[in-house]
Order: sequence, then structure tokens, then C-alpha cells
Amino acid sequence: MASLRIGGEGIDWHAAYSSYAPGRAAERILYGILGGKNKVFLSNTHFDTTRANIEFTGALAVDIMPEEANDPERDLPFKGNIDLEKLKSLILDYKAENIAAVIMTVTNNSSGGQPVSMQNILEVRKICDQHKLLLVIDGCRIAENSYFVKHREAGYENKSYEEIAKEMLRLADAFVMSAKKDGLVNMGGLLTLKDDSLSQQCTNLLIISEGFATYGGLSGRDMEAMAIGLKEVFDPDYLHYRIRSTDYLGEHLKAKGIPVVWHISGHAVYIDAKKLYSKIPVEEYPGQALVCDLYVQGGIRCVEIGSVMFGKYDENKKLIPAKNELVRLAIP
Ligand SMILES: Cc1ncc(COP(=O)(O)O)c(C=O)c1O
Repeated sequence: MASLRIGGEGIDWHAAYSSYAPGRAAERILYGILGGKNKVFLSNTHFDTTRANIEFTGALAVDIMPEEANDPERDLPFKGNIDLEKLKSLILDYKAENIAAVIMTVTNNSSGGQPVSMQNILEVRKICDQHKLLLVIDGCRIAENSYFVKHREAGYENKSYEEIAKEMLRLADAFVMSAKKDGLVNMGGLLTLKDDSLSQQCTNLLIISEGFATYGGLSGRDMEAMAIGLKEVFDPDYLHYRIRSTDYLGEHLKAKGIPVVWHISGHAVYIDAKKLYSKIPVEEYPGQALVCDLYVQGGIRCVEIGSVMFGKYDENKKLIPAKNELVRLAIP
């Protein structure tokens, strides 16, 4: 048992924390316990491994992004937010007792790496309290999100990135993280919980797949690297350098007429492949075509975040496309 420590000072988590290798191992354990048939998860957007781990249990994963955030070109400061009105009405539709958790992905990776405002999470917390729902933060890019809160949200300009992250984490009941991102490590993940009994269940399940809670499938070296990474990621110079470098690439691509998701996110440039390859119908996966072209032409590895990742089929095996056909150029 230990408390999660970010940047030196402990956060008031009451229960056990463990490291897991990698983030999706933590997801499998947490959502394996919370999920199951007839359970529903509501999120600003479930990352693909999150959705897969939830659906694997037989539960339903519902994304509720505001409509305006689906427009790649729209210039809004917090396009990663959850739609609060839709959240309220879906809780009534599905009934609170069937809702396993509300998950806020911070930043919102699958929606173009867009940030979530503190105001939005505060409102989500209030709604969760009203209905006694568990609030999970999937915070693999929590430091990056803090950067955007400080620079875009009124009232946070004088707070440090670390203070902002802690303020956000205090609002959650659980925190799950792929530490390969803002943990600055090449392998590892985290799961922290406030509820002792849930934490105990996760710890028990952990033993049969990853190992004991003292290491969760990671070597000591990897856990030490993660502890240091969680400190270093809040260094203002580091964060500024990383986010401005990504901007630099995105701004230059935009200037050359490449349609990119706006604003540029902190860790990746997302290309709007539906617009760039407008002659390729969604049934022929324009995003995947661009991924292949970039690799063949330039040896650049990137990922499709469109109908290959999120498309579904109807009963006649016809593709129900994703809302957008994006290609993510993530900066290592
Ligand atoms: C938001 C989010 N959640 C979960 C994961 C899964 O983490 P991992 O790749 O460490 O299993 C990722 C990975 O990219 C992610 O971006």
C-alpha cells in the first residue's frame, strides 16, 4: 500500500496503488470487476483499449462528446470535454444503478488529443455525486492537459501544472494511467483507487495475472523510472518544449494545406484523412490509406483513428463508419 505521489507531495488516495504492465492491464482488471452484461460506461471518449476491455466483459461503452467537438476544424479551447446535458440524460435513460462508471479520458486521445477543462470535470463530479456514480480519470496525458488548463482556462494562470493535475485528480474516485505517456517511461501503467474494497478486489485479481501489488508485473527499475518520470513531466520547460514542438509540426502542415485537427494537441498532430483523401469513400478507409502511404513514402509510422479503429457493422454487414477518419502522428 502506498499513496500516489505526483511531483513530491502525496495525494490523498486512501487505498492501494499498484503499477501494472502496461496501462491496458490496469484497465482489464478495473473494468473486468466493474463491467459485465447490462453494465454501461459513459465517457468523453473511450480509448480503443478501454472500449475493448469494457466490451469484452459484455458491457456497453458510450462516447458522449459534444457535437461541435466532432468538427476537426472548429477552434475551441476544450474539445475533449464530455457533453454534460447528454451525460445527464443518458444516466436517466440507462438508470444510475446500471452505470458502472463515468470515465474521463484526459486528454481525449481518440478525439484528436483535445484537452478537458477543469470546469467540465467539476460538473461531472457533481453529476456523479448526485447519482452516486464512480468517476474514473484515464489520465495518461494529465500533465499535458494541465498545460492547456493553465494557458486556456480562466483562474488557472497562476497555478503550477502539478497543482492543476492534483486538483483534477482529487475529483476522481479512480485514476488509471498508461505511464508510457506522461509517466515518461517505455513500459508501465498505474491504477489508483480511493475505495478500499474495490482496491482489494483489484489487488487480488492482479495476483493471478501480473503479480503482487508491490510490483504489478514491472521490474523495480521500471517503477523507479516511472516515479521519476511523473516528477519530471511537470517541469515547465520540458512541457513547453514538447507542446510547442508538436505545434510547430502541426502549424507547418496546416500552412502547406494539410487539413489537421485544430488546435494541435500536445503529443500528436491529427490529420483529417476524410478531407485530405476526399475521393476515397469511408468504406475504403481513407485514414488507413494515408497510414500506408506515409509508411511507403516516408517510413513514417502512424495510426488510423477512424473506421478501422472504431467502425462497426450493422445487421446487413454494412459499415457504420466512425464520426471522423483521423490519422495520428504521435511524437515520441
Ligand atoms: C487514453 C489511453 N488509455 C489507455 C491506453 C492503453 O495503454 P497501454 O498502451 O499502456 O496499454 C492508452 C494508450 O495509448 C491511452 O492513450
